[in-house]
Amino acid sequence: MKVELVIGASGGLGQALVRLSMVEPDTRVIGISRTTLPPFTHPNVQWICCDNSPGAIARTIEELKPVADRIVRVTLCNGRLHDRDLVPEKRLEQLDEQSLTRLLHSNTIVPALWLRALIPLLQSTPRVVLSALSARVGSIGDNRLGGWYSYRASKAALNQLLQCCAIEAARRAKGVKLVAYHPGTVDTRLSRPFQQRLQPGQLHSPEQAARHLKQVTADLMPDGTLSYLDWRGDTIPW
Ligand SMILES: NC(=O)c1ccc[n+]([C@@H]2O[C@H](COP(=O)([O-])OP(=O)(O)OC[C@H]3O[C@@H](n4cnc5c(N)ncnc54)[C@H](OP(=O)(O)O)[C@@H]3O)[C@@H](O)[C@H]2O)c1
Repeated sequence: MKVELVIGASGGLGQALVRLSMVEPDTRVIGISRTTLPPFTHPNVQWICCDNSPGAIARTIEELKPVADRIVRVTLCNGRLHDRDLVPEKRLEQLDEQSLTRLLHSNTIVPALWLRALIPLLQSTPRVVLSALSARVGSIGDNRLGGWYSYRASKAALNQLLQCCAIEAARRAKGVKLVAYHPGTVDTRLSRPFQQRLQPGQLHSPEQAARHLKQVTADLMPDGTLSYLDWRGDTIPW
């Protein structure tokens, strides 16, 4: 039986990925989330509650060790764009130390802590695609609109961490293929306040987005590099 890990599993994309994979034959899905109770139950789904602190991540990794060789996919879905008192910046004066720190924590530091724990876990795994939900707005080359300082910076920093990790994984975990992935604009809590100006057809359902991610990454082979891909499978400039 193959194993798929979804980290940040309670959100829109995370849940859709769990639901899509759990009905595949011979697949066990392990959803990892800060949420204690899974949003739904299914015989093929195991839920692990983890607050993303280094200690809790280490305990989760211990739980995963018996299945490490059977893991074929890991998707890091953690991310945040807005909150009750956190609004994406339109101009420099709106940059706020606390907001910047909080976005860097959820969008960059939490995935980094997971990468640190996952690469040793996956060192003997034959072939595993490890995708982190990045975003096109994390691209420096593609940034022509500006704004969203904290979110853009946190995703650009995530991409750089992933690139360092790909170089190290090429030596230490040769079966791992790393992907920084842009899912398109997906109808979740994260994008809801920013959906008004979208063109028809530009907003994907979480189910569509989960299918795209699996299609785009299905045939990727470990090659010691990081790919920065969008939902069409096109490469995004750094
Ligand atoms: N929706 C879009 O249009 C879009 C576009 C581009 C990129 N993305 C990226 O896709 C990923 C998934 O987003 P989504 O649209 O599914 O949003 P969502 O429904 O808000 O889910 C966000 C996920 O991030 C985790 N999270 C939230 N706050 C966190 C915090 N403070 N610390 C650690 N983890 C936290 C949650 O995991 P728990 O289960 O642990 O609570 C949750 O599952 C994000 O990285 C986002 O940046 C989304």
